[in-house]
Amino acid sequence: MAFFVVLIYPPLLLLLIYQADAMDVFKVRPFDNISLPCHFSFVDSTDGLSFTWEREDIKEEHEVEDKEFYKFFVGLHDFYQFYPKLIYSFSNNMEQVEERNSLYEGRVWVDEEEIPEGSLTLILEEVQFSDEALYICKATNSRGRGLRKMKLIVEDAEEPQVQFSTVDDTLVAKCISAGWYHMPKVTWRNRKEEDLSSYSKTEILEEKQDGSYRVVSTLHYPVLLHEIYTCHIEEDDVLNRPVRSIHRVPKRKYHNMYNHY
Ligand SMILES: *[C@@H]1O[C@H](CO)[C@@H](O)[C@H](O)[C@H]1NC(C)=O
Repeated sequence: MAFFVVLIYPPLLLLLIYQADAMDVFKVRPFDNISLPCHFSFVDSTDGLSFTWEREDIKEEHEVEDKEFYKFFVGLHDFYQFYPKLIYSFSNNMEQVEERNSLYEGRVWVDEEEIPEGSLTLILEEVQFSDEALYICKATNSRGRGLRKMKLIVEDAEEPQVQFSTVDDTLVAKCISAGWYHMPKVTWRNRKEEDLSSYSKTEILEEKQDGSYRVVSTLHYPVLLHEIYTCHIEEDDVLNRPVRSIHRVPKRKYHNMYNHY
């Protein structure tokens, strides 16, 4: 259940929209694949079965300058003004492709061989920031009907585990990215949060056809085994950082657009 809290801090209107339900949350990095599980005990075959996967936006906190701007902002970020909610649909013993959200085309599938086990798990490939949403799995057949809701969070950054090794008789710390980046920014810090990045060297580990790659970063600072090092990796190429559908409004960015509204 969603509800609104409107607080007025002149000249700022702060609008908070809460999502009150507790639900499963899945976290994934951009460009990874993820399985969104959905099981129903009443599902035992594809016969007479209809099911769908839909998405719903996660409502977050927005800070806007005034009411008119808020209307403009909500319009700008109303995903469903442009795209249908439906991302996967199955009925009459087969996948149905009409009326589906084109942003998910070729990136979603359900393993039909698992349906007799009651599994309607959705595989979502090559995750983008715009995939961050609530996902709803709905199924119905003559034995029952059911609904599952879950939240998918697309992570901005990762902190892979740091490993120690010896290079030319010198102790070094290393980290390997799990995610794929176009322009990875690697930041190394010690226990005191001092930035040691200038002592590190980052190399390409493997590259994909779309130009994104995984990296290995080595810290050549006088590394101590009992010290704590953290390795933080994020995408630094704004053009390749997909845009989230809902986020905090940058105060100045839409100013000109607002003047035309
Ligand atoms: C995602 O799945 C596709 C198809 O199964 C595969 O080719 C690709 O390597 C997977 N990507 C990742 C990051 O695992």
